[in-house]
Amino acid sequence: MAREDLDVKLKIDNVYKEYTTRKGKVIALNGVNLDIKENEFICVVGPSGCGKSTLLNNIAGLDTPTSGTIYLDGKPIEGTGVERGVVFQQYALFPWRTVLKNVMFGLEIKNVPKDEAEQIARKYIKSVGLEGFEDSYPKELSGGMKQRVAIARAYAVNPEVLLMDEPFGALDAQTRVQLQQELLNTWQNEKKTCFFITHDVEEAVILAQRVVIMSARPGRIKRIVDIDIPYPRTQEIKTSPRFVELKNEIWDEVYQEFLEVRK
Ligand SMILES: Nc1ncnc2c1ncn2[C@@H]1O[C@H](COP(=O)(O)OP(=O)(O)O)[C@@H](O)[C@H]1O
Ligand SMILES: [Mg+2]
Repeated sequence: MAREDLDVKLKIDNVYKEYTTRKGKVIALNGVNLDIKENEFICVVGPSGCGKSTLLNNIAGLDTPTSGTIYLDGKPIEGTGVERGVVFQQYALFPWRTVLKNVMFGLEIKNVPKDEAEQIARKYIKSVGLEGFEDSYPKELSGGMKQRVAIARAYAVNPEVLLMDEPFGALDAQTRVQLQQELLNTWQNEKKTCFFITHDVEEAVILAQRVVIMSARPGRIKRIVDIDIPYPRTQEIKTSPRFVELKNEIWDEVYQEFLEVRK
């Protein structure tokens, strides 16, 4: 491996993915190349259907590229792994487990002793604002609360890589802001590599070091924008001239792609 690849956590190498459907072939990803550094925070934006979720699922190991390879620490990804925590758009909780037991799930898989697992789970339940709901069942919670449980469950196992597919999309504005700040804290304190998909350009600019803009049909990377705003980032930076400039620039690019899809 080349010297400059040493701090590359995830290498997406010429990934092509097609699906065969009843209507024929769909090319979801058409030659995607991206190196993500250790501890980097990447946000991915692009119009609906441009292959964002496909890319994330391939990194998660839930799906395999038709051709091309994704490397984690220099090794080709084969299947899922505890070092990659995933949060989906739609919460995927175990309905028969309480909040506490849902969050403890990944720790059980990792064979963390029960007392320690419970302590860790309680800490993350608190950090997503669900203290007091440890013994509730998913059906007793609102959609936003269920999503917060899914987030706590992903954080609790302390994965090296966090893969998040529009995790805050369905939440109200206040909860979203709170969870963005919590995610930034987790990322800064625990050193993680984050791959975060969002359709909200403002969210991408507040979180990311680099924003990857994907183009519609065929799914490729159109442009990568460096977000040269220092951390810690608070909600106040949303009114700063540089923030507004970056946001508008990215928004325009995504909108152009949206129009392409509409053609
Ligand atoms: N399992 C699948 N079978 C067939 N087509 C799929 C499948 N998953 C995704 N696609 C297609 O691949 C393209 C990219 O989808 P997706 O990655 O979900 O886009 P995004 O997340 O950017 O909205 C779309 O055209 C979608 O219909
Ligand atoms: Mg998607």
